[in-house]
Amino acid sequence: MKRIGLLGCGVIGTEIAFAVDSGRVPAKLTHIFDFSRESTSRLAGMLKSKPVIVENAGLLAAAPVDIIVEAASQDAVRDNALSILQNRKDLMIMSAGALLDESIFEIILEGCRDFGKHVYLPTGAIAGLDAIRAAREELESVTLVTTKNPRSLKGARFFETSDIDLDSLGARTVLYEGPAEEAVRLFPANVNVAALLSLAGMGSQKTRVRIVADPSTDKNTHEIEARGKFGSISIRVENVPSQTNPKTSRLATLSAIDCLRRICGSEISIGS
Ligand SMILES: NC(=O)c1ccc[n+]([C@@H]2O[C@H](COP(=O)([O-])OP(=O)(O)OC[C@H]3O[C@@H](n4cnc5c(N)ncnc54)[C@H](O)[C@@H]3O)[C@@H](O)[C@H]2O)c1
Repeated sequence: MKRIGLLGCGVIGTEIAFAVDSGRVPAKLTHIFDFSRESTSRLAGMLKSKPVIVENAGLLAAAPVDIIVEAASQDAVRDNALSILQNRKDLMIMSAGALLDESIFEIILEGCRDFGKHVYLPTGAIAGLDAIRAAREELESVTLVTTKNPRSLKGARFFETSDIDLDSLGARTVLYEGPAEEAVRLFPANVNVAALLSLAGMGSQKTRVRIVADPSTDKNTHEIEARGKFGSISIRVENVPSQTNPKTSRLATLSAIDCLRRICGSEISIGS
């Protein structure tokens, strides 16, 4: 059975820990770390099989585990990915936005090659990354339209220089249209979906992103259109936000658990 170390015990980390603890993922959660001691203690207290709480990310990287699951933050990826790979551990990354920084991407890629280890990026809150990746050499355009309730967009950097007042929006309004690279800087909360799409397909300069605020919706909706010599792909995912963290969609957690089950299990793998 694979031994898992967990970096980050928030919404996604907690659900992953429950999935392992209940046997839905055939593995053992042996070590956990979070900046917040309260989060690690609370999580350990709820699990039947108690993991060791380690004191820092370095100790987690060096712990006797086979794979480390990051469900913390982009900083956690930047600070720890290489040392995890150097310690000969596979790594599953939820904070995929960190890999849009080319230097981080290169360091992680080299780490995988130098130490013969694997980094997994679950599909997260969208669908169809397998098809986009398969068609990448033939892609001519990829567009992502993300629609959210204005309250889910509050606090984004975009509003520091915009006159748009989210509280007074009466109708569906396009806030931004441009390359994924800029979109993730202006709307960091949307970073993971745009980053995954860019990494699988045409890169962050050529992937186009439109961000729409819609006061009448309570879902986080992502619509993806891809075209090329192979034909076209249209995908629409209407996400229910997690109750405890509305920025995180329920599907992202389910996708993380499914990815881990595939990594840890011996089974027929459906889909690429
Ligand atoms: N790939 C996707 O589709 C997708 C979807 C949703 C969220 N995410 C990302 O996954 C990550 C986790 O999401 P969540 O909803 O569980 O967040 P959360 O805020 O509920 O939990 C994150 C936890 O990580 C801890 N943490 C943060 N930085 C840390 C660090 N450097 N070292 C140790 N602990 C640290 C925090 O204390 C917190 O307990 C976020 O970065 C989020 O953006 C990805």
